[in-house]
Amino acid sequence: MDKFIVANWKMNNDFSDIPVFVDYLKENASGEKNMIVCVPSVMVKTFADTATGIAEAGAENCYYLEKGAYTGEISPQMVKSAGATTVLVGHSERRQLFGETNELLNKKVLAALDAGLKVIYCIGETLEEKPNYQEVLRKELVEGLANVKSFENLIVAYEPIWAIGTGKVATIEDIDEIHTFVKETISSNFGANVPILYGGSVKPSNSGEILSLDSVGGVLIGGASLKAEDYVKIVKSRG
Ligand code: 13P
Repeated sequence: MDKFIVANWKMNNDFSDIPVFVDYLKENASGEKNMIVCVPSVMVKTFADTATGIAEAGAENCYYLEKGAYTGEISPQMVKSAGATTVLVGHSERRQLFGETNELLNKKVLAALDAGLKVIYCIGETLEEKPNYQEVLRKELVEGLANVKSFENLIVAYEPIWAIGTGKVATIEDIDEIHTFVKETISSNFGANVPILYGGSVKPSNSGEILSLDSVGGVLIGGASLKAEDYVKIVKSRG
């Protein structure tokens, strides 16, 4: 299976960037599989409609309930009906800036899987937590993925918080060691084997080496996913 190349636009780009991005993909990456572009929620439908047959659309977040008086939230069903295949859950910015806990994220994971979405569940440690990364990641995995029945649509993204938007990338040895730990933790706790994406300052100049690791099932890209040229270079670097 082709490794996943997942863009996370975060709160960047706007509607005018969508046709430009998708046209570039059409011309330079047609036929490539497992390209997923997570965009701000208001843009999901436009991206999905524009990129049909070229790339998959994803949302960057969703709530865990289907409907009701939750001003400002969007449900997994809404994400799905907008044409997205995928949703990010538990990005470190959601955890750190918006106080999302493993308990809340577990509800989101279960609800999004139930709605038929692929879930990219994000985990990662801060610089202070780095010496104890095993404890931090184990807790995020065991609590965040509790009661998941089928792991078929589950992807995990390991993003060391200290490497996000900083230009600092974990060494290739660190990535291999930590991904292997994450795989073993999921296998021993849930008996499942899921792709583990790496994220944190991934760019065209380092993606080839990262993607060459067997323990890496793909990459989750912030800054370098905003321009289609860089994104496509990363797609092509999966070899
Ligand atoms: P950068 O690629 O900008 O470091 O962001 C990583 C990230 O948070 C992707 O979800």
